[in-house]
Amino acid sequence: MGDIVLRARGVTKSYGQDETRVTALRGASFDIRRGEFVLVVGASGSGKTTLLNMIGLLSSPTSGRVIIEGVDTTRLGSSGMAAFRNRRLGFVAQFANLLVDLTILENVMLPRQIAGGSWARGGRPRRDALELLRSVGLEAQAAQRANKVSGGQAQRAAIARGLINRPSIVLADEPTGNLDSVSSESVVRLMKDTAKRLNQTFVVVTHDKEYFGEVDRVITVSDGRVYEEEEDGQRAPGPGGRQGGAAAAATATVAPTTARQRGVLP
Ligand SMILES: Nc1ncnc2c1ncn2[C@@H]1O[C@H](COP(=O)(O)OP(=O)(O)OP(=O)(O)O)[C@@H](O)[C@H]1O
Ligand SMILES: [Mg+2]
Repeated sequence: MGDIVLRARGVTKSYGQDETRVTALRGASFDIRRGEFVLVVGASGSGKTTLLNMIGLLSSPTSGRVIIEGVDTTRLGSSGMAAFRNRRLGFVAQFANLLVDLTILENVMLPRQIAGGSWARGGRPRRDALELLRSVGLEAQAAQRANKVSGGQAQRAAIARGLINRPSIVLADEPTGNLDSVSSESVVRLMKDTAKRLNQTFVVVTHDKEYFGEVDRVITVSDGRVYEEEEDGQRAPGPGGRQGGAAAAATATVAPTTARQRGVLP
């Protein structure tokens, strides 16, 4: 497993003020290594999307730090955060959200253009996008308008779009939530193959854990707190808990709130 791409330290997020205040995330602390395929699971309303939004720099934590590739993003300010997000992170949502007036190829190139690339014929973004479309099995659809492809094809294009900037992390929020089982399985296979082939880090929120089979890590969110799931499906108690095998290696990189409260972590 590679170096650490993401460090979350005491990440807390509250929405609203006073009596309407909701604390959706309570002191999440964990590390993610390059190439890891991480599932985030938990009940509806537990804080999964909030967690993804924090590490995806879609909004700022109320307190705590999100450090990506050694950059403390909480110090960047909102425009710095947006620039970092556009260049360094890739997103896949439940709905592919392709722009229907553009072709599949243009949709895939879009994040590269936003990050400063050009659309020129024969240019690097176009070549990279075509290669990605080939790898997701959509080469034949490259010139098609985005509203002319199936839901599964649209989601494969969204994954290619999420990969175009070779991001540090691809963040996916319920990427199979809107697909039938056949399309879901193919989208999952594509993400897992991509993770291996490109040593690409994925953090995927899902209610369909069974589609994913073996993954490197499962993080469970429960009432705004994060837990590492061990091999036997039990929640890890944190550093100093059960030792042995991959589960111990995983717990070593995760620091649940309890460990933070004990002052174990920086
Ligand atoms: N923008 C917001 N303003 C106020 N409260 C919010 C906001 N976003 C989320 N919440 C609240 O924060 C809590 C966590 O929400 P979140 O969307 O992170 O849950 P989730 O685990 O992704 O749920 P689901 O599985 O249903 O998508 C919930 O109580 C939710 O109502
Ligand atoms: Mg959600």
